[in-house]
Amino acid sequence: MRRAVCPGSFDPATNGHLDVVGRASRLFDEVIVSVLVNEAKAGLFTIKERIEMLREATSGYPNVSVESFQGLLVDYCRARGAAVVVKGLRAVSDFDYELQMAQMNVGLAGIETLFLATNPLYSFLSSSLVKDVAKWGGDVSPHVPEVVARRLTERLRGHGRPG
Ligand code: PNS
Repeated sequence: MRRAVCPGSFDPATNGHLDVVGRASRLFDEVIVSVLVNEAKAGLFTIKERIEMLREATSGYPNVSVESFQGLLVDYCRARGAAVVVKGLRAVSDFDYELQMAQMNVGLAGIETLFLATNPLYSFLSSSLVKDVAKWGGDVSPHVPEVVARRLTERLRGHGRPG
């Protein structure tokens, strides 16, 4: 059984994340999308909400499950029997930090990182950008799963608009 973990903050998930998860699901028998519980950083969405949105958005992939993790990613991967982490690389600007983490993770526990080149359609996308555009009333529906667009509208209604 080849099992991989797609970790992230997913606050919220974008079409770029979903593209990586979908491609990983074709490369591995099982893919666990795992949301980092970061007590130092309150997000726009709770961990429970992020998981709900990811579950709905990945419901078409029978070999993808969604959960959360806390602590070191390598400890979580070992506990779940996954030897590989899958991450998307959008641009060279992602590379420095991703390389550092990948090298640390292989050094700590022999957990390998597989980088997938982000589909150019999504190379400009980030959760932060999506939140900012949505906050000011911009249409983010082309860039996020339908469930995320809906929840963003609900969460941000009335926030950030001029006046
Ligand atoms: O979506 P993000 O915020 O870029 O995801 C970053 C994530 C969750 C992959 C990274 O912060 C992480 O692995 N955190 C868990 C703590 C950990 O293992 N830190 C050492 C990394 S070498």
